[in-house]
Amino acid sequence: MEGNVALNPTRKKITAPAIRAAKAAGRRLVALTAADFITARLLDEAGIEIILVGDSLGTTYLGHESTVFVRMADMIHHAAAVARTKPSALVVVDLPFGAYQESPAQAVRNATRLVRAGGAEAVKLEGGAEYADRVRAIVEAGIPVMAHLGLLPQSVLREGGYKIRGRTSEEAVRLEADLRAVEEAGAFAVVLEYVASATARRLTERAVIPTIGIGSGPGCDGQVLVTSDLLGLQAWLAPRAARRYAELGATMRKAFARFAADVRRGKFPGRKETLA
Ligand code: KIV
Repeated sequence: MEGNVALNPTRKKITAPAIRAAKAAGRRLVALTAADFITARLLDEAGIEIILVGDSLGTTYLGHESTVFVRMADMIHHAAAVARTKPSALVVVDLPFGAYQESPAQAVRNATRLVRAGGAEAVKLEGGAEYADRVRAIVEAGIPVMAHLGLLPQSVLREGGYKIRGRTSEEAVRLEADLRAVEEAGAFAVVLEYVASATARRLTERAVIPTIGIGSGPGCDGQVLVTSDLLGLQAWLAPRAARRYAELGATMRKAFARFAADVRRGKFPGRKETLA
């Protein structure tokens, strides 16, 4: 058993400053989500630079209706499994809803828990100017912060749904002010979720830190997807912003049905799978 050792000790550890520096070097960044050991290991083997333990794990793996139900305990549990792979990739973990809204002190306390108990190497939080003081406090405490602007899934109750941001000039101006605020507060990168592509491109041109887009067009410095969308695991969902690179949901369902049929017909286990 190979166990729990660093996958590829020769591959350099990717840090938050290295991600920040990628923009100046003109290197496009690649990020994908993971919530478990196996996926994180495969992402690292594939050379993905950022493994995001996103709170989307609440709607994908935990079956919640929205991410507002995700708790710190969930994030720590899943982040720790990802961190146990000791990846070269940077492990970024979401601060869930309710973990930073109260105050900068609460934000620092929970970011520290994600680092100590969850193995996070950076945290992500949703919001712009209104949460810049949280970004600053966490960074001052020694923890890198990835910001998240545009569609903010944790604000679904207030917004009444999920819609594209930055389509009007007022929204574009507000997004730029938010970007400035999180940059000045010390964020090392920013996710732009479902931002109108022309606005996302303009924000990217004006940003000092790299923008990582999801549903925000090709003008961003990098791209992130929810891994289960890319793999087609939830065959019943087809987010427009995702491209399916596999149909693992269908493959898994077929494999389960074949196993069930073999067991029912007495074909499993066979001689090969029967131990002595
Ligand atoms: O929770 C998540 O997976 C995310 C991505 C959609 C960026 O925040």
